[in-house]
Amino acid sequence: MSIDKDYFKKFIKTTEMAAIGAFPFIGKGDKNAADKGSVDKMRNELNQIDMNGEVVIGEGEMDEAPMLYIGEKVGTHKGQNLDIALDPLEGTNFVANNLPNAFSMLAVCEKGNLFSAPDTYMEKIAIGKNLPKNLLDLDNSVEQNIKLLSDAKKKSINKITACILKRPRHEKIIKSLEKLNVKIKFISDGDVSGAISVVDAKTNIDIYLGIGGGPEGVLAAAALSCMGGQIQTRLVLDDEQKKRANKLGIKDVKRKYNIDDMIKGDVIFCASAITDGDIVDGVKDLGDKYEVSTFALHKNLKIFKKIKNYHLK
Ligand code: FBP
Repeated sequence: MSIDKDYFKKFIKTTEMAAIGAFPFIGKGDKNAADKGSVDKMRNELNQIDMNGEVVIGEGEMDEAPMLYIGEKVGTHKGQNLDIALDPLEGTNFVANNLPNAFSMLAVCEKGNLFSAPDTYMEKIAIGKNLPKNLLDLDNSVEQNIKLLSDAKKKSINKITACILKRPRHEKIIKSLEKLNVKIKFISDGDVSGAISVVDAKTNIDIYLGIGGGPEGVLAAAALSCMGGQIQTRLVLDDEQKKRANKLGIKDVKRKYNIDDMIKGDVIFCASAITDGDIVDGVKDLGDKYEVSTFALHKNLKIFKKIKNYHLK
């Protein structure tokens, strides 16, 4: 089964409108207002789509998020049964501080096919295409994984580039990478783009690793699944979060998830840039209209597009 092809354009419009929603807040130092601008627009668009949609990754759980919470039903209740992972504003700091790489994004699978990760931290390791399946493992040391990758890519270790969020929690990983003489590309935020960069030959990034948001891990898995990349993840949970994970149906909280465990079957992924991005340009105000650029993928239809659309004000 596939997701009906008519949904593709509708979900692109959804992230485009969410990006426009955050646009007035670029460089205004207010992360929450920017997030709300995107959330309101995204919700409005989703509710106009003929589908039985359910948010499985959203802005939080029902009691803590007024909108687009996990379990919220969206759409007109006519049409295909779809599960949606969304991040109306990925990179709230980027918008608040007018920095590149803020996106509005979502991923859609048929009902039951998308991993509902809680809004907690997640260990991640991602690599590009044309590599042996499940080549790397979170239980390997950094040294073992880099060596496996270097052998599989026939690329010497000092030519391997690793992308990682600059955070104190990554000190040990960073020390290991430095010792191996691996090139490091630090990012300050936005680890969906970081993880996806492994399939973009232009970036020269061979591996993404480290701990970031759980929802962001699943969104990255959706994009990588369309582009032939790989990602393995494991939730990082304290005792309270373990209870929340149980509520979402996660029994084995130490489980490692490979890409096919998180994304089953067909998937649509859309990311519209708010500020200029490495992948596509940000929203442009053209006076009477906005220009919005989106990176959009539909796995079963093998669609892989960068699209520019215009929306009258
Ligand atoms: P927000 O847009 O929700 O602020 O998330 C940005 C982000 O950098 C994510 O891309 C990443 O997964 C997460 O935050 C990392 O969390 P932390 O900033 O707590 O290390």
